[in-house]
Amino acid sequence: MKSTIFLLCLGIIFSIQAEFVKYEEETDIAILTINRPRALNALNSQVLDEIDKVLESIDTEKIRVLIITGEGQRSFVAGADIAEMSTLTKVQGAEFSKKGNDVFRKIETFPIPVIAAINGYALGGGCELAMSCDIRICSENAIFGQPEVGLGITPGFGGTQRLARLVGLGMAKQMIFTAQNIRSDEAYRIGLVNAVHPKEELLNEAKKLATTIAKNGANAIKNSKKAINDGYQMEIDKAIQIEEQLFGECFQSDEQVERMKNFLEKGKKRQTKKEDKSEEKPKNLRTEEKKEAEKEK
Ligand code: COA
Repeated sequence: MKSTIFLLCLGIIFSIQAEFVKYEEETDIAILTINRPRALNALNSQVLDEIDKVLESIDTEKIRVLIITGEGQRSFVAGADIAEMSTLTKVQGAEFSKKGNDVFRKIETFPIPVIAAINGYALGGGCELAMSCDIRICSENAIFGQPEVGLGITPGFGGTQRLARLVGLGMAKQMIFTAQNIRSDEAYRIGLVNAVHPKEELLNEAKKLATTIAKNGANAIKNSKKAINDGYQMEIDKAIQIEEQLFGECFQSDEQVERMKNFLEKGKKRQTKKEDKSEEKPKNLRTEEKKEAEKEK
């Protein structure tokens, strides 16, 4: 059944018809849930289109962090839809790969941070979806893998590229060539996820992380994400220039002026407190002298 997603953007409420994606906002944090539990949240073309539509409609001036998770207890996303892929031609295969890659690249370059809260199977396209997010945390029952070669295909939504960048060439090749899955503890050990949590706590932990991020300067975070992403593939001297430019741009923002002013004002208060304390010191000294005198008695 199609549910209607209401979104507030530029003061206008509009809706998106979505069957397989849920979208909720909790103040300045948004949660996008892949909602196709009967197929373990497998990604068919419709799911990819719906994710794309939701991303397009998010007001990234209002929303500070996006969390992506999967519906149900068992699966984040169990891969691209095998039934849909089973009859594709060469051209259609490349188009399907492009569709997934376009959506995942949109997530990777989304202006605000995106956290993957991986609540079970993250196989094939699921692992690739998680890897397109900025930060990955998972539940203890999460299972990761790139099983594509077992089905006679390569990973097609970025897996041949992002996995090696995240965990190194050797481990990426092992995972892809063997098509063997790994558990959450191994995913943590190789740096595929940043943290592992009990499954009932996962979403809360994702929200806590999002809240911690959202306390910081919105523009500074956007510029940091851009600097990291753009610079990552470049030669260091060019990458450093990107940082310099984006660092410079921060000084056009109100948040920089306010946040630095606040720090300096708090600094004055800290200084006054320190001075007050140092005035109290003689009292303490007298106490110490008393103690010494008593000892001598
Ligand atoms: N594409 C399409 N449907 C999928 C799917 C996928 N990637 N993964 C799971 N499903 C569907 C199953 O077909 C099944 O549907 P059905 O009830 O209509 O038959 C339903 O989800 C439940 O899956 P099932 O295999 O019965 O659950 P399980 O607990 O026995 O196994 C997995 C779970 C994840 C191990 C198994 O479903 C699996 O290996 N899925 C494919 C993973 C994969 O290769 N992904 C990469 C694709 S490129």
